[in-house]
Amino acid sequence: MFTRIDHIGIAVENLDESIALYDRDFDLKLVHRETVEEQGVEAVLLDVGENHVELIAPLGPDTGVAKFLAKNGPGLHHVAYQVEDIEAEIARLTAAGIRMIDKEPRTGIRGSRVAFMHPKSTASVLTELTEPAKGAH
Ligand code: CO
Repeated sequence: MFTRIDHIGIAVENLDESIALYDRDFDLKLVHRETVEEQGVEAVLLDVGENHVELIAPLGPDTGVAKFLAKNGPGLHHVAYQVEDIEAEIARLTAAGIRMIDKEPRTGIRGSRVAFMHPKSTASVLTELTEPAKGAH
């Protein structure tokens, strides 16, 4: 079961310029900044009520986000749904015919466990499952 939208992922070229827009001008509080090697990004989380905006910038030209930026430019990248049991959700969605990019959870931002579905299975929306670390919201 998807319990809520955890975050909207936005691909950016320059993290600091984007933080100025979202944090300074939109007044969304920056709560976390991290290099997530496994996803090839530097990322920040901003609070929007109980949900988040995740700004992601590529660590290098061979990363998925760099390829996304080269093709599409900056903008909406993915939507992440929060789940309580990510293994169960991966199994359920796989049984339903959804193609998972990640058949096993991998490490996401702030100690979360995440898995992406292939956009070909999800009407072209890159979709992430995220199981937050205990104690995170
Ligand atoms: Co994300």
